[in-house]
Amino acid sequence: MQISNLKHGGNVYKSAKKLNLLPSEIIDASASLVPFDPPKILIDSLNAEIKNLGFRYYPERNLSDLKEIIGKFHGINPEKILPGNGASELITWAGYEASKFGISCIPSPCFVDYERSLNCWKSNFIHCELPKNWNNVFPQSFPLLPKGDVIWITNPHNPTGQLWGKNSLEEIIKNYKLVICDEAFLSITPNGDKESLIPLTEKYNNLFVLRSLTKIFNIPGLRLGYVVGSPKKLKQWKINRDPWPLNSFAIKAGIELLSNNKFYEQWTKQIHSWINIEKERVYEKLSKIENLKVHNSSTNFFLIESKRSLSPNIKYLENKGILLRECTSFRCLDEKWARISLQSRENNTLLCKEIQNSFKN
Ligand SMILES: Cc1ncc(COP(=O)(O)O)c(C=O)c1O
Repeated sequence: MQISNLKHGGNVYKSAKKLNLLPSEIIDASASLVPFDPPKILIDSLNAEIKNLGFRYYPERNLSDLKEIIGKFHGINPEKILPGNGASELITWAGYEASKFGISCIPSPCFVDYERSLNCWKSNFIHCELPKNWNNVFPQSFPLLPKGDVIWITNPHNPTGQLWGKNSLEEIIKNYKLVICDEAFLSITPNGDKESLIPLTEKYNNLFVLRSLTKIFNIPGLRLGYVVGSPKKLKQWKINRDPWPLNSFAIKAGIELLSNNKFYEQWTKQIHSWINIEKERVYEKLSKIENLKVHNSSTNFFLIESKRSLSPNIKYLENKGILLRECTSFRCLDEKWARISLQSRENNTLLCKEIQNSFKN
């Protein structure tokens, strides 16, 4: 099954150009990033990389230092880790793995890249619709057990923001030949890390867990993620992919950001506190809009649902330099839905005001 418009959020450059603004003048609530500048320790280490001309050399092909640091960070054997050019590159290779097993089940609506990856390997898949109503108690039990060989889990789920409980996911692992769990947003989600399946990779050889550093450190342009899973299978992925998928800046970034536990704890604490406070404020404001349903979320993005198309509202906001994620390219959603990501306090106030205004026009 092919879909022609597999879209992503975060098209800041395009919108800025159209409105004759700087990218920094756009309020991008279409990509779910944190509103903080990347950490100073990261900027310093990237500056050092420039000063030392570290990029004059090909990166070390085994990525040993980075794997060592990630291994220590999670308390696992570095051979179970494969760093990648963002989680997106590893989603492509997860699709390669899935193509060996048969039919993939994609709980939908979901992140559009899984479908891209499976199409790339001409691998069969089915969409399994998730229930469209859920409460505000997280974590929740994963609600599906569709027939198939492979299942793709996203925790927390994109675009719904539901956090799935580890125990319910362990039951899922037992029912499939292969389980791919994308935890791109887990570390920024308050109480999220407790639900990580990374420790279960010690027990289940059919489990791959994907992680991204994009969201938590606000570094989408650096491209950095990793996968945890069977060393034997990851060796095969490595043989098949580009010889140098990560550049020297991304490697430096990963080493710097994951080697200091105290810094990491403080950084995530600040993010969790921002999510808890701003989510409540934004929900309260948007819930007052007539005929608009604001869906519960565990994390920094959430869905809104209207009785009529939200396309005019999204257009209105776009002309004001505010981007929401339209949902027509998500399976099982349509133009009555939109996904919004939380912003800084000041921008959230503006965002809510303009969303309210968009309903008056
Ligand atoms: C669920 C999910 N996984 C993975 C990614 C891609 O992450 P990365 O920037 O590390 O490629 C995204 C990006 O939006 C995402 O929403």
